Amino acid sequence: MQINKPTPIFPGKELIQFDSNTDIRETLYAMKVGKKVLITEFYSNGMLLLKELQKHLKIRLPNKTLKEQHAFRAEYHKLSNLILLKIKNQEVDVDKAPKIGWLGKLYPDTNDFLLTFPQVQGLNSAWQKYKNGIKVPVLRNKVHPYYGTYFPTRFDHLTLFDNWLKRYEGPKKSAIDVGVGSGVLSFQMVQYGFQKVFATDINPNAIVGLKEFMGSTKLSRKIELYHGNLFATIEKEVELIVFNPPWLPAVSNEENIDEAIYYDKNLFPKFFAEANNRLAEGGKLVLLFSNSAEIKKITKENPIEKELAKGIRFKLEKCFKKTIKPVVDKTKPTKKVSIPEEVQLWVLAKI
Ligand SMILES: C[S@@+](CC[C@H](N)C(=O)[O-])C[C@H]1O[C@@H](n2cnc3c(N)ncnc32)[C@H](O)[C@@H]1O
Repeated sequence: MQINKPTPIFPGKELIQFDSNTDIRETLYAMKVGKKVLITEFYSNGMLLLKELQKHLKIRLPNKTLKEQHAFRAEYHKLSNLILLKIKNQEVDVDKAPKIGWLGKLYPDTNDFLLTFPQVQGLNSAWQKYKNGIKVPVLRNKVHPYYGTYFPTRFDHLTLFDNWLKRYEGPKKSAIDVGVGSGVLSFQMVQYGFQKVFATDINPNAIVGLKEFMGSTKLSRKIELYHGNLFATIEKEVELIVFNPPWLPAVSNEENIDEAIYYDKNLFPKFFAEANNRLAEGGKLVLLFSNSAEIKKITKENPIEKELAKGIRFKLEKCFKKTIKPVVDKTKPTKKVSIPEEVQLWVLAKI
């Protein structure tokens, strides 16, 4: 299984070195014509150059309308990724750099290569989350998201699922968790007494991460992992199928979409067709969803309602909804939203 990780860059000749004595303006102009910059001496030199780049672009580029903001971000992204750091012996090769355990775990056999400064920052923040863990209100233990794996940052949908599991009186022999991510829904099901959960994910990092996390503990005997699309190679019939899918339709045909956030047009039709073959008679199909695509004015179409309207495979048993409080950004004037944001838990049964 090939893990997703930043691709190592091997140094070419055209690198400019940047230390605390280097002229910042000159460096920025060199970057604008595409020159790559290697940070030397201290990690903070890279932070300084990034800050100066931001300042430089703020003075020169308009940043008001949505289109301008998009262009600003694209330019910042392009230029900041020209700033490089050397990785040697599984460490960032400058003084006062953070210790990032991912370098040893993800690149055990690669030495002496470069990564971009933003990639190193991403690896560092992912390492902090993995090492310290994330407290999820409905779970007894913290979740430790593996590099490049989705983890929840808001929990209202998990509370909906917790409440539903509390009242669930059906059989608890086996369930399938499609798109297991950091394992949250599977852990919830095990907590509520499910004997076996078959869990899949299309993202290899999710599977590798959970395998490592569960090791040979009791949990590893309860949760069986499969790497693959939707149900992967699982052919069994189960009493409960759970899916917290991506909530937004992919608008363009971009190749590298984040499959935890965006779904393509085939995902739901394929999911319902395959779920129909794996749900036992009397079983429940639970989907967690939200109206965020509508709020973001991307689409009013709800793929679950669309399936139900077909009336061929599934009928609606119940839809629980929970309005969620908007995240208040104190730096921006509060915008009036016409419809409140809500998370939804859909319970479907076979027709
Ligand atoms: C919104 S996240 C939910 C993760 C986790 N179940 C949770 O609730 O925190 C969606 C997950 O589905 C996975 N996924 C997306 N498309 C998939 C597919 N076609 N087959 C299997 N997994 C998929 C993503 O990689 C991601 O881990």
